[in-house]
Amino acid sequence: MTEPDQKSGVTIHIRNVSKVFGADGDKPFRALKPIDVTIPAGQFISVVGASGCGKSTLMLMIAGLLSRSTGEITVDGRSVTKPITDVGIAFQDHLLLDFRTAFENVMLHADIRGLDRDTLARRAKDLFAQLRLEHAMDKYPNQLSGGMRQRVSLIRTLVHEPPVILMDEPFGALDALTRLQVRTDLESLWLRRRPTVVFITHSVEEAVGLSDRILVMSPSPGEVIDDIEVDLPRPRPIVLGDAAAFAAYVDRIHHQFERMGVLHGITLPQQSAA
Ligand SMILES: Nc1ncnc2c1ncn2[C@@H]1O[C@H](COP(=O)(O)OP(=O)(O)OP(=O)(O)O)[C@@H](O)[C@H]1O
Ligand SMILES: [Mg+2]
Repeated sequence: MTEPDQKSGVTIHIRNVSKVFGADGDKPFRALKPIDVTIPAGQFISVVGASGCGKSTLMLMIAGLLSRSTGEITVDGRSVTKPITDVGIAFQDHLLLDFRTAFENVMLHADIRGLDRDTLARRAKDLFAQLRLEHAMDKYPNQLSGGMRQRVSLIRTLVHEPPVILMDEPFGALDALTRLQVRTDLESLWLRRRPTVVFITHSVEEAVGLSDRILVMSPSPGEVIDDIEVDLPRPRPIVLGDAAAFAAYVDRIHHQFERMGVLHGITLPQQSAA
């Protein structure tokens, strides 16, 4: 494994951050209880929790796209008071522009961020090659499959080498097989320079397969009820070598969901200590 160079991730501090929507109106809604998390530079952290527990809300606040009701967030020591720019963001919807080829979609950063076209083009071609997508570079999004579009979107998220990557259910719309491929691609790209990644997923297996650490959230209003270090070797095979250890992490999270009433009426294995 090659050592990351200096353009790797930065630390994110989340201190006493909570969110109440509509606090000014007559029906305020508490979406998040206070959250305290420090995400060390270069960590790959996943957030799992029931639908509506506040995962996207938390991510939008880290990105500076949504105001906090309390608390402070710093990224690389700087307080987040407006949308952060040195970031790669990926949502469930790939959001490629129909009138640009795959390559020109990735090159969007040159126009938006004023980055050097030659440098960006070199990195883009390198990433297309690494994901074995060279043949897709000059195609338009409507000529690509959903999986290919999502992988082009992944390249666009990473090509400007941001120190922070925020991903909200990026693979949710993919079939299971493509999802495995993109997950492998994401891990290998992350290993190359170790940006700090906050990854939201509904798939517990995907979280364990990708993460250094997993935050388990309670149902709404969300709070962090478990904080799990995932000590498994990398790169992680799709079928993990030490399957028992993998399963122990998955079981621990499923048991948490059962305890909170997110999962019920299903048969879970005896709890093991992950
Ligand atoms: N702008 C808003 N105004 C009022 N309530 C909101 C707003 N955005 C989100 N909410 C509410 O806050 C709660 C948390 O929403 P959020 O989108 O963060 O959940 P989530 O964990 O991302 O869910 P999912 O897994 O379904 O994406 C939900 O009850 C949602 O309805
Ligand atoms: Mg969400």
